[in-house]
Amino acid sequence: MTHRLTMMGSRGNAISVTASGSGPALMLLHGFPLDQRMWQHQLSGLSDAYQVLSMDLSGFGQSALVDEDYRVGDLAEDVEIVRRHLAPERPIAVCGLSMGGYVAFEYWQRYRSRLGALILAHTRPAADTTQQQQARLAMAEAALQGGTWAVVEGMLPKLLSSSTCDQQPEVASFVAKMMRECAPSAIAAAQRAMASRSDFSDQLPLMDIPVLTVAGAQDTLAPVGDTERWTARLPQGNLATIEQAAHLSPVECPDEFSTCVRTFLQSHDMPSG
Ligand code: MLT
Repeated sequence: MTHRLTMMGSRGNAISVTASGSGPALMLLHGFPLDQRMWQHQLSGLSDAYQVLSMDLSGFGQSALVDEDYRVGDLAEDVEIVRRHLAPERPIAVCGLSMGGYVAFEYWQRYRSRLGALILAHTRPAADTTQQQQARLAMAEAALQGGTWAVVEGMLPKLLSSSTCDQQPEVASFVAKMMRECAPSAIAAAQRAMASRSDFSDQLPLMDIPVLTVAGAQDTLAPVGDTERWTARLPQGNLATIEQAAHLSPVECPDEFSTCVRTFLQSHDMPSG
């Protein structure tokens, strides 16, 4: 059974959460500029064996933006609030995609004793360069001035592989719809938060829990070669590469993504069922 809930976040913000299934808890954190609907296949595909939780990060989907100057660490506090309410007893697995991965790194730093495993998909541990920060701040301003679509339209071909766009046009429409529905204020706040995020590169050797990293062979935003290099610095890191995917493998190749997650969790003491 799937439940939708609203919880009070760390800054008095309403957080929209979806919970499905029972078993070891798996928390899914979406990428930018998307919302928790990107996990629809994993909610249905993994809830036979896991308590699958997904949440809209501040300002996205049905979650309110009450604080336009939040930090990525504030989002990790929201994750902990959801965990405390819905999965208080056992260690959880957190799976973050891209921006969701930045939140997962912060969650590890603050709450590592609560974590049984991490899945870091299409993301990176490094902080932004000055140039990347400036581009984000410019995009934040442009979204507030010109609206969401003007600034996110160009991202679509980078999020999806050409085979996804050609063979699954409904996926491209679905992703475009999620992007269009983001409020300009949510885009701006997230860009500012990502621009100021911490650098976890030096922490990788300390992340001594099972970590599955997932890369798309066609991802230019988080290229597989980069992911390979930083995965090798994790004490218990394993990389899965999804050949037909660019930046959004859970949406582009949902069954393959879910199989990687299930196999990983089963082999690391988070057995299903
Ligand atoms: C995402 O997919 O969440 C973005 O690529 C993150 C970012 O802009 O760094």
